[in-house]
Formats: sequence, C-alpha cells, structure tokens
Amino acid sequence: MDALLDILRDGEFHSGDVIGERLGVTRAAVWKQLKRLQEQGLELDSVKGRGYRLAPGTELLDSAQILSSLKPMPLPIDLDVYASTDSTNQRLLSRTELGRGNFCLAEHQTAGRGRRGRVWQSPFGANLYLSAAWDFREGAAALEGLSLAVGLAVVHAIGRQASTRLQLKWPNDLLWEGRKIAGVLLEISGDPAGECRVIIGIGINLRLTARQRSVVDQPCADLTEAVGTFVSKNRLASALIEELVQTLVRFERDGFPAFADEWAAYDAFRGKEVRVQTAANQWLVGTCRGVDHHGALQLSTAEGMISYRGGEVSLRGAENDT
Ligand code: BTN
Repeated sequence: MDALLDILRDGEFHSGDVIGERLGVTRAAVWKQLKRLQEQGLELDSVKGRGYRLAPGTELLDSAQILSSLKPMPLPIDLDVYASTDSTNQRLLSRTELGRGNFCLAEHQTAGRGRRGRVWQSPFGANLYLSAAWDFREGAAALEGLSLAVGLAVVHAIGRQASTRLQLKWPNDLLWEGRKIAGVLLEISGDPAGECRVIIGIGINLRLTARQRSVVDQPCADLTEAVGTFVSKNRLASALIEELVQTLVRFERDGFPAFADEWAAYDAFRGKEVRVQTAANQWLVGTCRGVDHHGALQLSTAEGMISYRGGEVSLRGAENDT
C-alpha cells in the first residue's frame, strides 16, 4: 500500500499497467488496492486512457518535508507517519519509551477516537490526524486547562496557513461558522498524583465529501471551505508541531492563566444561553460566563454560578447542536 501511495503522491495520472509494472503486480491487483483505498475514503480520479490520480487538493503526508520545514526546536522531534493505523493516540499510548516530543500522524484511522467515547471519522488522506506525547511530573492537577491551551495552539497553526475566523467551544472544539472543524482529545496515563503522560490527539477536517459529512453526528466544516482554497497538509502538520511544542513548554512554566485572556477572545459561547450535559447525563441550562484561571467553565444558572472542570461537559447551543 505504501509503495502505491508513493507512486500516486505526485498528483499525476498513472496507468494501471505502469503502476503494476512498478509494483511487480498485475493490473487486477493494482485495481484491488486502489479500490481498497477508495473504500477507506481516499478520493481518486480515474480517467479512461490516462489512469488514476489523487483528487486535486489531496496531499499525502511526507515526514521528510514536515521535519525539514520545522524551525529550530527546543527538543528533538520524533515523528512516526502511518498510512493507516487504529488511532494515532493509541499508537503513542502503546509505546513504553516515550518522552516529550514524540509525534504520530496517519492518513487514515480505523478506530479514530473522539471525546466522550465518540468515533472520530477518519477517511483516508482527507484530513489531519495527529497525536503528541508529553510527560508531566506534577500529576493530573497540573494539567488543568491544558486542553484549552491546546485548542489555542490549533487555532494558531491554522491561522499561519490562511486567515479565517475560528472560534473555540469549551473545552476545545474549533468551530467555523458554528460548525466543528477540529477537535482535541487528551488521554492521560501513569500516576495521576505524580509522573504522568498526556497524549494529545488532534483531528482537523481538511476536506470532507458530502458522503463523509453525512456520517458525522454533528454539524461539521472543513478547512477548504473555511479558507476557500486547498490547505497543505504537510505545512499544517509542521505548524501544528511547532505551535504544540511552544504551547506545552509555556504551559508547563506558566499554567493556564497565561492563556486565559487569549482563550476568552475566541470563546464561541460567552454570554450565550446553553444547555450543559453533565457527566451524570443531566442537563442544566444557564448563561456562559467564560472560563476561570483553571480553565473551568463558568455557568450562571438559576441556582447561581456553577463551575465545571475537566472537560466532562458538552455544550449544546439551543438551535444548533455542535
Ligand atoms: C473530539 O471528539 O472532538 C476529539 C477528536 C480527536 C480526534 C483525533 S484524530 C488524532 C487522534 N487520534 C484519535 O484516535 N483521536 C485523535
């Protein structure tokens, strides 16, 4: 599969015969592999007499390109890139020798995970699926607000590719015109009171077909529509790695208070009436009053001000569930 992708990555047409010769397999075997990629979500053009090519705007991940365009980093970057994997978060969670600065990217996830046990749709080649590992020494309490800071890192990385108006929905969804364009999932392993490892998973929609959108369980958007042109996945991946490292170093030093004001500037729900779903599956109604210096959501309700921490809550706008 990797060899076939290497042939297609130039975006030019390649005939089944030529691909078969280069791979040392029959035309029928080539067709079977292409069909499998298409079933996994890869958008391909096929033209009689010319062959197959990646649909315009589809750029495949290139680890050499991603690493070479990184500016000098304060620590070594270790990057794994997979054509297909279960979940980039799972890949990093399963590694034992991790430190900080380990990143993992994939073109496709067979078991992409979202927050609150949801599935993260991960069609082949269409979007960005990235995970990062970072070790913290002071336990889970020191991580308060981290997922909000990561949301800001994603906003910055996207903002470096093109200008578009993004907003953040507590704790860390990125919205464009009220629809979800990216999400963040933090998974923590190790000692909650001491040394622990955080896996930060980020999914950014780059280009979703109508069919792919139809299986997402909430209103969604992609960067191509938000920006009005194709965004380079490799450039976005480099920017994201840089922004994440910068954010994590700063977060370790200064904690969430250093990010609170900027987060407020992107807050999609400040001053809005919302329904909040608690971990116990109860619904509360109130007005969003932003976040405190721990990153906890402040909700003004009939019973007074309520504070939520830890990302156990999801917000549902009354008319437009996001
Ligand atoms: C959300 O529900 O908003 C969080 C989505 C996080 C998806 C990303 S894609 C890369 C990483 N690997 C996963 O399995 N999930 C995260």
